[in-house]
Amino acid sequence: MGIIENVRKKASADVKTIVLPEGSEPRTVAAAQILQRERLARPVLLGDPEEILQTARETGTDLTGIEIIDPARSPRREAYAKTLLELRRAKGMTEEEADVLSADPMYYGVLAVRCGDADGLVSGAIHSTGDMLRPALQVIRTKPGTRLVSSAFLVECADHTLGQNGLLVYSDCVVVPCPTAEELAHIAVSAGHTAHDLCGIEEPRVALLSFSTKGSASHELVSKVQEAARIAHELDPELALDGELQFDAALVPEVAKIKAKDSPVAGRANVLVFPDLQSGNIGYKITQRIGGAEAFAVLQGLAKPCNDLSRGCSVDDIVNTVCITAVQAQKA
Ligand code: ACO
Repeated sequence: MGIIENVRKKASADVKTIVLPEGSEPRTVAAAQILQRERLARPVLLGDPEEILQTARETGTDLTGIEIIDPARSPRREAYAKTLLELRRAKGMTEEEADVLSADPMYYGVLAVRCGDADGLVSGAIHSTGDMLRPALQVIRTKPGTRLVSSAFLVECADHTLGQNGLLVYSDCVVVPCPTAEELAHIAVSAGHTAHDLCGIEEPRVALLSFSTKGSASHELVSKVQEAARIAHELDPELALDGELQFDAALVPEVAKIKAKDSPVAGRANVLVFPDLQSGNIGYKITQRIGGAEAFAVLQGLAKPCNDLSRGCSVDDIVNTVCITAVQAQKA
């Protein structure tokens, strides 16, 4: 069974409430209908009800049974504004600002998740990644024991000799532009946990990637990855993890034998950690566009699940991301 089939099955076994702040966006409205009809999640559309119903009429979508909330008129708005003010007062937020933001669907959505009125949130069909992430970082914050939010891509390759039956986890390809060695270590450990908890990879083997393998090159960028590997070992001594490794040394057993023969990870890595966001983002897009792999993004390290969409997403992408979010919520 493929990762998405698996995730859809798990989502329908314990249906979760997922808020969709871009409630009048046509692909989101269409996705809500599928989620409701197939009992994959309880979608809640946020926005002006008139606009949402207008989109439904224009796209021939049936929204029967789907909850629509207008944040500006919601009876929960006042409580959410209060929560937001408590969270952000020390950062200079005023009562008036909290009141205005509580009517913004993105802020209303993350506050609904924070306050337990929804299990998760999916957004990003219209908002940029940064605009989606900031309210989540400010309101939902990190889970205990983690101080960094990052991302993992679940990458499904046609070649089943790679990773676990073709499944690889790539990290971080979305959030942290230029991680320090310590941040890179946290990303590596979180990605190992995502591989285990969300993807069902029983033995995550984490490779911290570089242009050097085991000291074959000397450069401050290489030293940073070596230092990150050292810190990551300290953070989770049980996790099979090694670095620095080149991409081929991490994945190809024959190359690993030559370049890193004593490594517990080289040649059979199933979690690939990129040294920064440029390499990670480019790397996953190459895998997807040239390698023909399917790739699904999740955020890791948030106290409750929120996930970002690409602005080029399809209706199916939204449905799948909601299902992934619901499965994360089952495990939260
Ligand atoms: N983990 C935890 N907390 C964080 C993180 C993080 N990774 N990043 C920022 N924060 C915190 C900050 O400390 C701050 O907290 P505070 O306000 O309580 O002090 C809060 O979140 C907001 O931070 P800002 O400083 O306002 O936001 P920043 O300018 O740091 O931006 C962001 C954060 C949006 C994640 C930024 O790093 C970013 O834009 N990343 C790249 C996003 C992107 O464009 N990705 C590529 C495209 S996506 C794709 O291709 C699928």
